[in-house]
Amino acid sequence: MDLRNLDDATFAEIEAAFDEYGVIVFRDQFLTPAEQVAFSRRFGPLDHFPYGLFNMADHPEIVILSNILQEGKPIGMNDAGRYWHSDMWTLDQPPRGSMLCAIEVPVEDKIALGDTYFASSTHAFDTLPHELKARVASLHGVFSTARYKKFVGHEKPDNVYLKEIVKAAAEQPDSEVTHPLVRKHPRTGKTCLFIVEGVIRTILELENAEANDLLDTLLAHTVRPEVTYRHRWRVGDVVMWDNYSAMHRAIGDFELPLRRLMHRTTLSASEMESSHDATTG
Ligand SMILES: [Fe+2]
Repeated sequence: MDLRNLDDATFAEIEAAFDEYGVIVFRDQFLTPAEQVAFSRRFGPLDHFPYGLFNMADHPEIVILSNILQEGKPIGMNDAGRYWHSDMWTLDQPPRGSMLCAIEVPVEDKIALGDTYFASSTHAFDTLPHELKARVASLHGVFSTARYKKFVGHEKPDNVYLKEIVKAAAEQPDSEVTHPLVRKHPRTGKTCLFIVEGVIRTILELENAEANDLLDTLLAHTVRPEVTYRHRWRVGDVVMWDNYSAMHRAIGDFELPLRRLMHRTTLSASEMESSHDATTG
């Protein structure tokens, strides 16, 4: 399909597939920034990426992900997302989902680099042992930006990309936000595990050692290779993920002169209506 020209019925099919599968892929779309924003808005309001550093000047709804340097300065985030996460977990209300358009993809020996892994947080919860489901559903994680900075190595910004991020992050005071480890998807009613690798400082209801053991167990269960999808990018791809029902992780196996350029929009959760109630009572 051509995402520039969708009638309402076709768009409804896309949104239903997005709700059902959590990750959807469209090949050969080649959307301009304006077209990407227009298609994204059909899902509802958009969130701007918090730091603003790499948001496009004329389309601030788009944040640039790239390793490209202009006059020695990065034009986008490069090192971001190289851990299992869902997006913008620092917010009280993280977004509904994200959409990534591939503008330039690094290729070496005819093989694309910079793949993205996905795992299903709903499948992860559904396949937990019965007792663990009940236990996890009562717990709350403390998500910490200080812990994140330690995890990704902000103390030693050893490259130009990380230096820029660290500079931007330094302007933001460290923060913590408490999220339940299990949340219900506002549209589908599906139960989703809510964990992020390396950033949950502790679990409110548990001792630290017990919390860390449990988080390790949950992450290992969620991202088993047999239940992950690895997306190999092509220029023109549009990939969307549901931030409740999917986790993802970027692979940093490329560097200049191989160039990567992606445009991301972020779907807000602020006006997510429940289609679940209407269809299932
Ligand atoms: Fe991400």
